[in-house]
Amino acid sequence: MARRTISVIMNGVTGRMGYRQHLVRSILAIREQGGVVLDDGDVLWPEPVLVGRDETRVRAIAERHGLERWTTSLAEALADPEAEVYFDAQVTQAREKALRAAIEAGKHIYTEKPTAESLDAALGLARLAREAGVCNGAVQDKLFLPGLMKLKRLVDSGFFGRILSVRGEFGYWVFEGHWQQAQRPSWNYRAEDGGGMVLDMFPHWRYVLDHIIAPVRSVYAHTTTHIPERVDEQGRAYPATADDAAYGIFELEGGIVAQINSSWAVRVDRDELVEFQVDGTEGSAVAGLRNCRFQHRAATPKPVWNPDLPATEAFREQWQTVPDNADFDNGFKTQWELFLRHVATGSEYHWDLLEGAKGVQLAELGLRSAREGRRLDVPELEIR
Ligand SMILES: NC(=O)c1ccc[n+]([C@@H]2O[C@H](COP(=O)([O-])OP(=O)(O)OC[C@H]3O[C@@H](n4cnc5c(N)ncnc54)[C@H](O)[C@@H]3O)[C@@H](O)[C@H]2O)c1
Repeated sequence: MARRTISVIMNGVTGRMGYRQHLVRSILAIREQGGVVLDDGDVLWPEPVLVGRDETRVRAIAERHGLERWTTSLAEALADPEAEVYFDAQVTQAREKALRAAIEAGKHIYTEKPTAESLDAALGLARLAREAGVCNGAVQDKLFLPGLMKLKRLVDSGFFGRILSVRGEFGYWVFEGHWQQAQRPSWNYRAEDGGGMVLDMFPHWRYVLDHIIAPVRSVYAHTTTHIPERVDEQGRAYPATADDAAYGIFELEGGIVAQINSSWAVRVDRDELVEFQVDGTEGSAVAGLRNCRFQHRAATPKPVWNPDLPATEAFREQWQTVPDNADFDNGFKTQWELFLRHVATGSEYHWDLLEGAKGVQLAELGLRSAREGRRLDVPELEIR
């Protein structure tokens, strides 16, 4: 059993996602479990090379986790021929330039979403990666969440019959910053810095709908900025120029209607921070991050509308729970393992930069739909 080291440049590890989900919960967790065991018994061992702008912060992370390789120079990291993979979790605006440089340096690419700020740029990156012949992947972590994997299990089993509709609720209250600190970075609320709900969440809704329910064919979105002023990390008030809520209606192949509310100005009255209710002719389900409940047509109650009487049934108690039937790992880590395996062995991998570009396409069309107040078709995407 040979151990094969795969060196991964990780840019943006001082950020929320780069540090917690990608470094600690994915790459370091893979090392703690002893690497990724390949089909031939060899073990793939990821060796992170941390990249960040602030020397003190990158060094501190490296020391905290006993990592030896770090730098503040992306060019220096990319110049190392031993480094095979470049990963990007920087702010969205900084991404395109860094990904281009990494592809040009011949690195395999793995990146957070959105893969770029515009569809042209996202498709350009997908094309560049294809021409360079490098492996490439975009984070689509929600597909690997236990709740959504259980939902997919129901879809694949034919449980729903004909799927009619999807209702998604996503969001929570993000503090404005004056009397309690905001729990998300301030750039998220500034359009000029790549922020906004649509750019952040529509890329997720695209792959969730495409891969679990059916391909997205049109979008109508209403966006708004509910909280017009927020307070940043330095305690300074700033105008929130980006949308902090988006109310979207998506038509999917086969006439399925998906409606998803996304908001950072809503208080949670749900079991989980995101929930999707799927209704079909044969049954319905409600999936969250971890759990999935379902109700078959044979167990469907027949309520009668009568506001004069108190509710006669405990509707939420009439659902069953989809069992785990498997060990579910962290979704980010699962996708990292698939990507590293793909790079090392050429195994199948579907979630590439073209898939990432589809997310940017939906975000771009969603914003345009909101500006123009009309429904827009979502054309097939290909790399020309
Ligand atoms: N997959 C998901 O569920 C998910 C969730 C949240 C965010 N994201 C994506 O991850 C990326 C990072 O988001 P985050 O919430 O970790 O942000 P963050 O602000 O916490 O981190 C951003 C990182 O980018 C670095 N950076 C590089 N250039 C910068 C610049 N010019 N200005 C400011 N910072 C710069 C920062 O130092 C930091 O390391 C975004 O593209 C975001 O869309 C994905």
